Formats: sequence, structure tokens, C-alpha cells
Amino acid sequence: MDSATFILFGATGDLAKRKLFPALFSLYSKRRLPDAFSVIALGRKGFTALDFQDYVARALHTYAKQTDEAPGTLSSFLACFRYYSLDVTDTAGYEGLLRLIQERERELDIPENRLFYLSVAPEFFHDIAYRIKESGLGDTKGWKRLVIEKPFGHDLQSAIELHEKMSGSFEEHEIYRIDHYLGKPMVQKLHSVIASHPQIDALWNRNRISNVQITASEIVGVEGRGDYYEGAGAIRDMFQNHMLQLLMMIAMRFPAGRSADETIARKCEVLQALRPISKAEAALHIVRGQYTAGTYENITFAPYRDEPRVQTDSMTDTFVAARLWIDNEQWSNIPFYIRTGKRMKEKLTAITVEFEPKQGECGDGGSSAAPDRLEIRINPDERVFLHYKDRVIEQKADAVARSDGALSDAYERLLLDALRGDATYFTHWEEVELSWKWVQPVLEAFAENRLPLHTYPAGTSGPAAANTLTGKQGHAWWLYEEMAPRKIEELI
Ligand SMILES: NC(=O)c1ccc[n+]([C@@H]2O[C@H](COP(=O)([O-])OP(=O)(O)OC[C@H]3O[C@@H](n4cnc5c(N)ncnc54)[C@H](OP(=O)(O)O)[C@@H]3O)[C@@H](O)[C@H]2O)c1
Repeated sequence: MDSATFILFGATGDLAKRKLFPALFSLYSKRRLPDAFSVIALGRKGFTALDFQDYVARALHTYAKQTDEAPGTLSSFLACFRYYSLDVTDTAGYEGLLRLIQERERELDIPENRLFYLSVAPEFFHDIAYRIKESGLGDTKGWKRLVIEKPFGHDLQSAIELHEKMSGSFEEHEIYRIDHYLGKPMVQKLHSVIASHPQIDALWNRNRISNVQITASEIVGVEGRGDYYEGAGAIRDMFQNHMLQLLMMIAMRFPAGRSADETIARKCEVLQALRPISKAEAALHIVRGQYTAGTYENITFAPYRDEPRVQTDSMTDTFVAARLWIDNEQWSNIPFYIRTGKRMKEKLTAITVEFEPKQGECGDGGSSAAPDRLEIRINPDERVFLHYKDRVIEQKADAVARSDGALSDAYERLLLDALRGDATYFTHWEEVELSWKWVQPVLEAFAENRLPLHTYPAGTSGPAAANTLTGKQGHAWWLYEEMAPRKIEELI
């Protein structure tokens, strides 16, 4: 891998200490980073290089899985870091930043390969990208890349405006938009899960699939980020990005693309085929909810409206469920049900594919057997179960082995991909635009209160109204209890 400089905007923030430092350290310990590696950490706070190295060490102590690597590993990792205090809106400060980067490039003999990671609020994205260009930071003899975190825009119009502005400073192929769900090993391996066993592969056709359910539920609430969440809700925080990414990953044409361009094109095909819904029809296909007080394992949770920095009459959705249709040859007439919410009963990300009974299997004396289904658990554990003819069969771990088995953390995998220039598991602008296009009428329907806001007690599976979406097709959401298999056989 090319030697490079990692320039981290927002290095004093939450994401950096919880996710980015541990991921970089893990890659470093596994010798996956280039031999010559320089990190320039940026924030407004005043730190010396040594103070900041100490700050990183403390963050690793708290958040890294392991810090007792070979003697000297931690200290040599910390020695990669320099700190530079910069208000990102201060143009003059970028000159000093460029000097520091160049000084370290000379010291470590690093070619001008620069990865700019913007772990800052999205309102700074364009400013920073523009100043990188104007200050000469982006005039490299090597490569330059820009990694940005969600959210990318607040709605369709703001996303387009941001894209147009950013395009003046970075080419599309230089922009790596992180959606950490795409870094999850199971998400990257969805297609091999299906293709790797004939029993599952045989069921994978449009005559056998009855419906697909995608669930991402959290037990946590808004974790003190009420001000952010009030402007987002589950629809922007989860649905427009993570949930639609999971939809694309499971529904795209097989086999998955061999190149980043091919994968992105296949994902976009799914969004292009997604049946649009108008805001007038939104209530037929979408259910929104908000949690009220409730208990979870004897802990009492306050209602959403009592969370700090949340309006007492807030109409923000903490739960969204939707029924979607993909109008293409493979998926026509097969509903996709998506649900996501906070303060739910279980922390779970899973995809359940329910199969139709085989011809002749139903109506044979009123068997009450549950339908066959494939359950792919993405989080917190990664497991695959085939519920088949009343048996529960677990797919062997080898079959779902990761292409990069040593890297289990999404940020580790994505940082490594960005450093080596592999954009397969990043979000291309076209995906962002298509997903906002689909979501935009829903945002408008929410804003105009065209849909009721259903309540659900914290610690439950969401509002009962979500059942109307599945019920119309004669389906039902799989309950958490049903998802947890008891008697398991191994699929050989
Ligand atoms: N935290 C997460 O788990 C998470 C998850 C997904 C996405 N994200 C996204 O990741 C980004 C960072 O989130 P975060 O939670 O780390 O935010 P955060 O804790 O609020 O940190 C913000 C960072 O931005 C810096 N900053 C703010 N204003 C600045 C300015 N004018 N000039 C220079 N630096 C400035 C702060 O530096 P000083 O404090 O030193 O001023 C701090 O390092 C956001 O876009 C967020 O939406 C975060």
C-alpha cells in the first residue's frame, strides 16, 4: 500500500476517539497500514503533539479492544501523530497546516498521498473541501481522497447543492462517503451467504420468495443528541442511508459486481426500480412512530419528548416502517418491509427472507408449520439461519467467512479500503441522489403531518400500526422471539 498522510479534521471529537483511533490502531497492530504513515490531527482545542498523543492513548485505553500488543507497538503508533490547532473556517490556518504536512512528508519520505477525513459537522464539508483546494493542500503529486461521514444533505435539494459545491474541489472518484453499515462483514458477504449453499441458492428465486424484511432496532434512545435528532428523525438518521443500503445490498443482481463501478451500478439499478411513492400515498406505505415512557429489563425510560433538547410537542419520528416494491424482473410483486427504531425491545440488525410454501405443501391438513425463511443476522452477532421444514439450520461459519477475516470492525475495513483506493463499499453520489429522491415525498408528508404519529412504549417492538403494512399482503413481521432459534442443526 502507498505511504500516505491521514489528515483528520475533528480529531478531538466523539467519532475519532470511539471509532477512528481504535480502528487505525488495530490496523497498525496488524501491520495493515503503510510502513511510513503520518497522522495530522486537527481540532480547535489547544494540544501539543505530546499532549495529543496522550489523549489518543487514553482514548485507546477506553475504546480499543486490545492495547497490549507487542512492546513498543502503541508508542510507535502514537509517534505517527502530530496535532495542529485549526479553526476550519480560518483560511490563514491552512498555510501552517500545509507546512506541517510537508515537513512530515519529508521527514518520513512519504509521497504526496493525502487522505482527508472530515469527522466534523456536515455544514463544514464544503468549506473544508474548498479550502483544501484553495490553500494548495490538494495540489499533490500523489493521490488525494476525501472521506466524509453521513449525513450527506438534509433532503434532496440540500444534497444536490452540497454535491455541486464539493464537485468544485474534489472529483467524484476522490470522494469516499462512509456508511458504516457497508463496512459490516456480513453485509459485504450477503451474496456469498446465498450462493455458498445449494439449499439456500435453490430457494433464491422469485417464485419461492414471499417477502423480505429488514430490521434495524436499537435499545438506546437519542443518547443526549436530541438537538441533532430533532432535525433528523429515524427517516434521515437511518432510513435514507443505512436501511436503503441494506435493501440495495440484498436486492442487487447476482453475482455482486467484480469492481467498485459494477457494484455501484447494480445497487443503483435497485433504487431506479424502486416504486416511487407520492406524498399523498405515503400513509399507505409508511408508518411513523415515537416512543413514550416504558420499561426495559426493569429500567424505566422517559418518553422521547422528555429527552434533553427535544421539543415537548415534538413530532419527530423515532420509528419508521415501510413497505416497498422493486419493479424489476427479479423482485416484482415481492414486498420489502423495512423497520427501524430507537428504544425498541432488542438491539438487532437482520434481514429475513420468507419463502412461499412449495406447491402441495400447504393445505395438507392444516399444518401450522411456520414458513421457511432465511435469517441473516448482521448485528450484534453475525449468524445465518435457515428455518426449513420446521428445522433450524445454521450455516457453517466458513461459509460466511469474510474475505478479510482478520478485520471484523466496519471502520477498520472502510479505513483500509479508503487508504488503498477501493470504493466498493462507499456510497456513490448517484446512490445518495436516488435515495433522497425516493425519500423526499416522505419527508414532505411527515412535515405536513399527512401521516399520524403513532406512539409505542419504550422497550417494545414499535407501534402496532406497523402491522397494517405487512397485514395487507397477508404477511406479518417476524417477532424477535421467533427470530431467536432454539434447536439448531449445522448446515454442512
Ligand atoms: N459520533 C458518532 O458515532 C457518529 C456516527 C456517525 C456519524 N457521525 C458524524 O461524524 C461527524 C463527527 O461527529 P462527532 O460525533 O465526532 O462530533 P463531535 O463530537 O461534536 O466533534 C466535532 C469535532 O469537530 C470539531 N470542530 C467543530 N467546529 C470546528 C471548527 N470551527 N473548526 C475546527 N474544528 C471544529 C471539534 O473540534 P474542537 O472540539 O476541538 O473544537 C470536534 O473535533 C459528524 O458529521 C457526525 O454526524 C458521528
